[in-house]
Amino acid sequence: MVNENIIKSDVLVIGTGAAGLSFALYADSDIKINMVSKAGPAESSTDRAQGGIAGVTSSGDTFKSHIKDTLTAGAGLCDKKTVKQVVKAAPERINDLRNWGVDFTGGKDNPDLGKEGGHSVRRILHHGDNTGHEIEDNLLKETLKKENVRLYSEHTAIDIILKDGRAVGAYIIDNRTLKVKTFLAGAVIMATGGCGKVYQYTSNPDVATGDGVAMAYRAGAQISNMEFIQFHPTCLYSVKETGFLITEAMRGEGAVLLNPAREKGRENGGETGGENFMSNYDSRKELAPRDIVARAIDSEMKKTGLKHLYLDIASYRKPEFIKQRFPMIYAKLKSLGIDITADKIPVVPAAHYSCGGIKVDRRGNTSIKGLIAIGECSCTGLHGANRLASNSLLEAVVYGKIIAAGIKKVIKDMSAERVSLKISSGISSGISPWKYTGKKLPEHQVFIEQNWMEIRRLMWNYMGIVRSNRRMKEALKRINIIEKEVNHYYWNYLINNSLIEMRNLVETAKIIIKSALMRKESRGLHYNQDYPKKSEKYRKDTVI
Ligand code: FAD
Ligand code: SIN
Repeated sequence: MVNENIIKSDVLVIGTGAAGLSFALYADSDIKINMVSKAGPAESSTDRAQGGIAGVTSSGDTFKSHIKDTLTAGAGLCDKKTVKQVVKAAPERINDLRNWGVDFTGGKDNPDLGKEGGHSVRRILHHGDNTGHEIEDNLLKETLKKENVRLYSEHTAIDIILKDGRAVGAYIIDNRTLKVKTFLAGAVIMATGGCGKVYQYTSNPDVATGDGVAMAYRAGAQISNMEFIQFHPTCLYSVKETGFLITEAMRGEGAVLLNPAREKGRENGGETGGENFMSNYDSRKELAPRDIVARAIDSEMKKTGLKHLYLDIASYRKPEFIKQRFPMIYAKLKSLGIDITADKIPVVPAAHYSCGGIKVDRRGNTSIKGLIAIGECSCTGLHGANRLASNSLLEAVVYGKIIAAGIKKVIKDMSAERVSLKISSGISSGISPWKYTGKKLPEHQVFIEQNWMEIRRLMWNYMGIVRSNRRMKEALKRINIIEKEVNHYYWNYLINNSLIEMRNLVETAKIIIKSALMRKESRGLHYNQDYPKKSEKYRKDTVI
């Protein structure tokens, strides 16, 4: 009799953003692939990406320059070989995206190249300001055509299954029935994206709760550089809408950040009334790497006590240009009562990207056999201490190809090791089916909500753009208390998506805090007031 709760394939992919989908599209058609996503298949950071994908495609640009910009942003921690590998593969991978139907503005012969912070030339291919949706939509459509791929949405992975030290699958809950299924496979690919939801303010979608990092950590995999959380300088400040990004490409097209002094001057009828504050922080002004711009905004906000600053494109570009270059942002903000062709945009920084993650080698292998990680949940060494804008979609697609090329070997190694995928029959030593630890859902949902809020607030206040020893130690103390409470619910009640995510949120927050405490210097995105300088002694990855 077929047991519908045991689902086998050659490869299990957890996540259907750019990373998971690229792998599925590059993989040979004779490999049976199961993919799961914990919400709708398109709900992902990928779908929200605005600026675009970086790659050398113009005669005025060189690999050397893209490599140099990546290394400069990475503040001494990038793996140079990885950087070269990814940058050099970019033009071909961008062509692959085109072949899968992605339409970059300007077409192949005359692409319109955008500019973002840290890039010394225009090299960002984009689809207006809605690049991520264009990529997610086309990759998903192409994947659904593949007969060897089966996609399960509304399925949340809980934990990796290990057998003889190898990853052989995952326990996965069907969000609708709360039934836990056992997915078994010759290789498990983590493609679960980022962890922005650990913070109170974030550009990330709800699915970004650090699940991949937390699951891999619990399984015993090495996790690297999680102290490097990137804060995007310009998210919309609005009571009507949270976490809406205003792309850095807008600064690339001339938009300027305004502090209240300059703002006051303009209200009095002139452009000269205030200072252009970015030039006080960096000669590259609005187009300095993100860590510098976010810290400058944070410092201006603390000086003035204001809750937000402004971004002004209206004074620098004509309305027709703005509408044509940023159609999605124009429409969205118009619906919120802001006309970006005339008004200044209220902006604040928000948690945006995790540069650290599950430590992988240049083929995507983690420290656990059979477990592979790709995309934002992985740490390949490309980003170092600070990611260069628009390098992450690129990393996802490049590694999709690399991992697909090596996947048969990973599966073959498993059969060579004779790891058996049999479910335990009680007396045999097979893989245990899921054991339910509680019978009912927590009756007081308010405790769960309180913990969610506390974690995110704590991380924002104590582990944000500017850190200190005292704040980090206090963060660890408090997260340990929250962890106990969360574990109580997790182990004594029937689990659902919300409890699973909360457990992962605590785990990921704790990893971020511990990694940050290990780094006794300031580098890239990690700024500690008690160690304000870089130190050669710490020019290395943190590993947990
Ligand atoms: P995602 O696209 O986030 O996909 C994660 C997948 O994992 C989802 O399908 C989710 O459901 C699934 N998942 C997670 N946990 C589980 C679980 N437990 N069980 C089952 N499924 C799970 N980068 C650029 O290069 N250029 C840009 O212009 C750009 N703009 C951005 C704009 C915004 C607003 C944001 C948030 C990010 C942006 N980034 C950009 C970053 C980039 O979008 C992401 O790093 C990249 O898309 C990550 O892809 P991914 O496939 O690793 O993860
Ligand atoms: C943006 O469009 O500003 C985001 C780009 C990125 O995160 O790479």
